[in-house]
Amino acid sequence: MAEVKAYDQAAGTGRYAKASGLGGKYDNVRRFWEDQLTGIFLRPYLNELVKRKEKTMSRLRILDMGCGSGDGFDLIMAVTSKDPELYEYISQTIRPDILQEYLGVDINDTLLEQARDHFGGNPKLRFEKMDLGHGLPFTRKEEKPFDIYLSLYGTMSHFHDDTVVELLVDICKHAPDRALFVGDWLGRYSYEWQDLWHVSPEEEYFMDYRISYIYPPEERHRHDIPVFPLRLMTRQEIMDIALRAEKESGVKIRPLCFFDRSMLVGRHLATGDYNSHCPDLRLPINSLFEGYVRTDLEKLLVDYVPRRGFDHLNSFYESFFLSCNTLVEHTIAMLSGYGSDGVDTVIEPFYPEPLKEAIRTMKVVVEAAGQLRFGDARANIIETHLGYSLRKLEMELQTGTGMGHGLVGVFEIDKR
Ligand SMILES: C[S@@+](CC[C@H](N)C(=O)[O-])C[C@H]1O[C@@H](n2cnc3c(N)ncnc32)[C@H](O)[C@@H]1O
Repeated sequence: MAEVKAYDQAAGTGRYAKASGLGGKYDNVRRFWEDQLTGIFLRPYLNELVKRKEKTMSRLRILDMGCGSGDGFDLIMAVTSKDPELYEYISQTIRPDILQEYLGVDINDTLLEQARDHFGGNPKLRFEKMDLGHGLPFTRKEEKPFDIYLSLYGTMSHFHDDTVVELLVDICKHAPDRALFVGDWLGRYSYEWQDLWHVSPEEEYFMDYRISYIYPPEERHRHDIPVFPLRLMTRQEIMDIALRAEKESGVKIRPLCFFDRSMLVGRHLATGDYNSHCPDLRLPINSLFEGYVRTDLEKLLVDYVPRRGFDHLNSFYESFFLSCNTLVEHTIAMLSGYGSDGVDTVIEPFYPEPLKEAIRTMKVVVEAAGQLRFGDARANIIETHLGYSLRKLEMELQTGTGMGHGLVGVFEIDKR
């Protein structure tokens, strides 16, 4: 029967699968928090680079190192040049016409195959199998210089520091006069792995990493989940690598910015594999961003458990989580106290500025959305905005020193 064949064929493409942002690799947190936060931090450097390319009437070339299934392409092409005004149609920083080529390289055939399947129709994209474990495996003759040498979501943590130095020295040789290097590692002091904080920062430390979070809770302790080493980093350790590469290459490697990603939403908060005290915040935050799903906001409150001997980390996390809790509590109070005169909320003068701004914003959102009589304003507008407000706290209260699941360093390679 034609119908059966048609539905079978549609299901066979994999694009007929049930979609939910509540879990999986591309959950809501990945798309609306982690990818966006990464893009917002990269934005000023991409804007500057694009302006420079436009001035010289040249086009942009991107190398994505450890590209996996090519997610870096979507991330970087979605970065907007600013937070657009209401009336503006979103403007990408890197417009398709200014891109000359994106080359994604990875050691994993399965992921590369996925990337080719997904992006196969775009002639500006190439995916090649390459091992980056011994530096950049090509010369300027084989591949033209790139404007961005990109790595995302912890790829640099696969390598020993000596290997990253070697890679950076090769990048310095390969790059044009000016280029960006984006190095993405795992942060050493994420709350998710508080059990690992005791390792001396002098030690080149690799954690035993398990991708256990993709399994349902009852299967997470299976013994056949592979374990592999990933390097945990601080900002200082990344700076040491950059300085060594700078000395060896004789090329200036200028740090532009460091940022922590996923202090509140790291994937291992859900497993408790490396800290049995941490709450599973990722699921309720996924739920904040999910349309027509209401969230139990109490599940967002964190009871931070300090670790003896780490006063500076404890005091940072205490005040960070207290700020997040305060925002959530104010929002709960606004929802329960909502009336025809709007909501009453007291912002204490000692609150940190980003918290004050987040509470003021939530007040405006609750008051406006509360007027709506259809479209589940709580699930679709208020909770979503609470998600963005919590993300704002993560962005503005952080130190960029290795307190998140990810720690990213953005550098300019400058040969002038
Ligand atoms: C954490 S994943 C990140 C993937 C992708 N960048 C993303 O944003 O989702 C790390 C990637 O590094 C790749 N990788 C690990 N060792 C490598 C090596 N020696 N050479 C090239 N790629 C490598 C892995 O196959 C994997 O795709």
